[in-house]
Amino acid sequence: LLTLGLVAVGGYLLGSIPFGVLITRAAGTGDVRNIGSGNIGATNVLRTGRKDLALATLLLDAGKGAVALLLARHFLNSEAAGAIAGGAAFLGHLFPVWLGFKGGKGVATFFGLMIAACWPLGLMAGATWLIVAFLLRYSSLAALVAAAAAPLYALLPLPALGLPAPQPVFVLAIATAVLIYIRHHENIGRLLKGAEPRIGAAKKA
Ligand code: G3P
Repeated sequence: LLTLGLVAVGGYLLGSIPFGVLITRAAGTGDVRNIGSGNIGATNVLRTGRKDLALATLLLDAGKGAVALLLARHFLNSEAAGAIAGGAAFLGHLFPVWLGFKGGKGVATFFGLMIAACWPLGLMAGATWLIVAFLLRYSSLAALVAAAAAPLYALLPLPALGLPAPQPVFVLAIATAVLIYIRHHENIGRLLKGAEPRIGAAKKA
């Protein structure tokens, strides 16, 4: 139990590193929290006009979730430990102590977790995001569709791809998807009103 507690704290600390804030400050674009939606994620970093910074934010926010899960799963040889570390990293991203617990929406970290937990699952979820984003050009909607689909993909009976996913991975997918929906309540409101900015559009507020 002590070990799992340490895993959770370690995962949380890793996940709480706000790469979007660090990267935009370091690059001199101004803190990402002062532009667009005010969110710290890659979608909002893209609104600085710097695709390279957005890509770096995406990869690092995804990577921190993946690293937390992979390290815990490897060293404790347990899917549950990996899911606990990954879930803690996700919570760290959403509620980072360094930003007064005002963190991100969790989409990149979610994809990092899914790829690390079970890469075919992560690829299917990522492909879902890409298809929706390509067709409709809403980052938030693409994330909401992918988050809803991931737990369903986790149940597919495809043994050659490691599916259905182990139960801790399924629980992780559900829990993170629920939190993604909660964190996107403002995006959902804008989508319903037709006021959500599309990818590549200049953002009002
Ligand atoms: O990853 C978050 C994305 O789904 C929405 O971001 O900045 O448009 O609220 P944003």
